[in-house]
Amino acid sequence: MSKNSAKSRTAHVCSECGAEYSKWQGQCGECSAWNSLSEIVLESTAGGPVSVRRSGWTGKVDAARITPLKEVRQGQDIRISTGIGELDRVLGGGLVEGAVVLVGGDPGIGKSTLLLQALAQMASRLPALYVTGEESLAQVAGRAVRLDLPLEGLHALAETGVEHILRHAVAAQPALIVADSIQTLWTEALTAAPGSVSQVRETAARLVRYAKETGTAVFLVGHVTKEGGIAGPRVLEHMVDAVLYFEGESGSRFRVLRAFKNRFGAVNELGVFAMSDRGLKEVPNPSAIFLSGSARQPGSCVMVTREGTRPLLVEVQALVDSSPLSNPRRVAVGLEQNRLAMLLAVLHRHGGVMVGDQDVFVNVVGGIRVQETAADLPVLLAVLSSLCDRPLPEKTIAFGEVGLSGEIRPVPNGEERLREAATHGFRRAIVPRGNAPKSGAFKGMEVIAVERLAQALEAAVD
Ligand code: TYD
Ligand code: MG
Repeated sequence: MSKNSAKSRTAHVCSECGAEYSKWQGQCGECSAWNSLSEIVLESTAGGPVSVRRSGWTGKVDAARITPLKEVRQGQDIRISTGIGELDRVLGGGLVEGAVVLVGGDPGIGKSTLLLQALAQMASRLPALYVTGEESLAQVAGRAVRLDLPLEGLHALAETGVEHILRHAVAAQPALIVADSIQTLWTEALTAAPGSVSQVRETAARLVRYAKETGTAVFLVGHVTKEGGIAGPRVLEHMVDAVLYFEGESGSRFRVLRAFKNRFGAVNELGVFAMSDRGLKEVPNPSAIFLSGSARQPGSCVMVTREGTRPLLVEVQALVDSSPLSNPRRVAVGLEQNRLAMLLAVLHRHGGVMVGDQDVFVNVVGGIRVQETAADLPVLLAVLSSLCDRPLPEKTIAFGEVGLSGEIRPVPNGEERLREAATHGFRRAIVPRGNAPKSGAFKGMEVIAVERLAQALEAAVD
């Protein structure tokens, strides 16, 4: 089937967004990044397109490849527990055989620590191989001993050549491989330096192919660029089954692992860990840690977010202060910047609250990133509270989407959110009408249903 004589083709790939072009150009047409294209060598692809005459089709096209779906052996979706509950949760209930999982995050956030801990937990049940391209074997072993990990069945390999790694893997047949990190690996087939777009792409492709052919589960560790993508090619995200990102504030010991893509589970599922002197510890009930814990203050509003399948209490803080600038600043940490600008416009137009001459800073406590629209109402309540320099009523939570015409829209799983708030002792909730129980109360908590932004603002400053 393969044509050995086929010339190797090249393509130009954008290192920011992964878009592919046949010719070099200065600016990427997809993401508008300048000078981000680099040349990669594509593996020679076998044959050209198969031409089949429609009439009189003889069925000679490789029939073995076209199979009625119902005859395909269902991949038993057997989940392997990683031995770390929060990691299992983010993976969608455990690791699936042959799955390739990319774990990304800033340097030093704990990727190697987490995967070494997970591997050590699993090694007693499954043969596991830790491939390290960044640290020496002594460093890895030293960390394992310091963390007091069970080392039975855990093997390590200090190697960066992907052909050598695969040769060792074929011989040792591990059920699980961690490649730490993908940026250090390289293939002999290319002359580009390790970490370059073409090397990362090609080595990952080889590992993915190996995983799919042998049913080996593979974790790839990837560093994150300044812009927040996995360094170099975002193409990696398309190649793997799941992409997990490690998030966390520098200075905070809490780390959040988020499923950004998952073919076997919910996206945006969160796992929460705390970094201790004995490695990463799970935080199975994380609601409380994202509240600042301080007394009631102006500019603070607690919301119930639901990322993935778990409701979570988080605190949104705002600081509104008169600006010396002609173009006042709008800064959002943990939220989307453009959404903040839009919400402030709605606040002015439909709430009659003017912040045009004020700097507005909004922060989600604990370094967590909130991506859902349920944060709209809490953000505006926090802004209003800071502007008026008055705290919100005690033990109050809020959630709800704010529309451009000033309407408060319901969000999914309202009841579950209310239950989480009630469990943690909140006594008052400002929520969209569509999410409020008819009785106006929920497990002893007063529920104020609002339909318009003006109503919500009124409820908050009573
Ligand atoms: P590491 O897993 O090496 O990060 P990554 O692989 O993402 O680059 O984590 C290193 C950081 O974690 C380092 O700053 C020290 C800290 N750490 C602890 O606080 N306690 C521990 O037990 C370990 C192993 C690391
Ligand atoms: Mg590391």
